[in-house]
Amino acid sequence: MSNRTFTIVKPDSYRKGNTGKIISRIEAEGFKILGMKKVSLSGTQAEGFYAVHKERPFFGSLVEYMTSGPVVVIALERDNAVAHLRKVMGATDPAKADAGTIRKDFGESIEQNAIHGSDSDENANIEIGFFFAASELL
Ligand code: RTP
Ligand code: MG
Repeated sequence: MSNRTFTIVKPDSYRKGNTGKIISRIEAEGFKILGMKKVSLSGTQAEGFYAVHKERPFFGSLVEYMTSGPVVVIALERDNAVAHLRKVMGATDPAKADAGTIRKDFGESIEQNAIHGSDSDENANIEIGFFFAASELL
């Protein structure tokens, strides 16, 4: 069980001014920020990041959404990091997410669902490596 995970504060959250509120929720859960930056994903980056979904019917729309504005990418550290962030984040569809989760409180729809969270230790490491050099993780 690794102690790292990765999140993206998605474009809908950034646009609505929810970035700080979402980061506060994450810090309040005991996560430490290892690395953080604001970026605009290119189409190629968004397609690469979500490549696992490329055959899904929503893939084109997902890429369009993820490139619709700036995002904040964050490498995080905590014990049981991947599972704990998934719990705090809530279900993919905000309408089905538990009360008090980030997606319940800030998500708009099954697509515009406020944040990303890695789904395994292996993917957390891949996703952190997608955006950060080792020297940027402090
Ligand atoms: P994420 O990867 O962003 O943390 O989300 P997740 O694991 O909860 O959900 P996943 O199945 O990996 O889907 C990735 C993202 O694609 C969008 N989506 N749209 N229209 C749809 O039915 C649909 N389903 C998924 C969401 O933005 C979801 O977070
Ligand atoms: Mg996922």
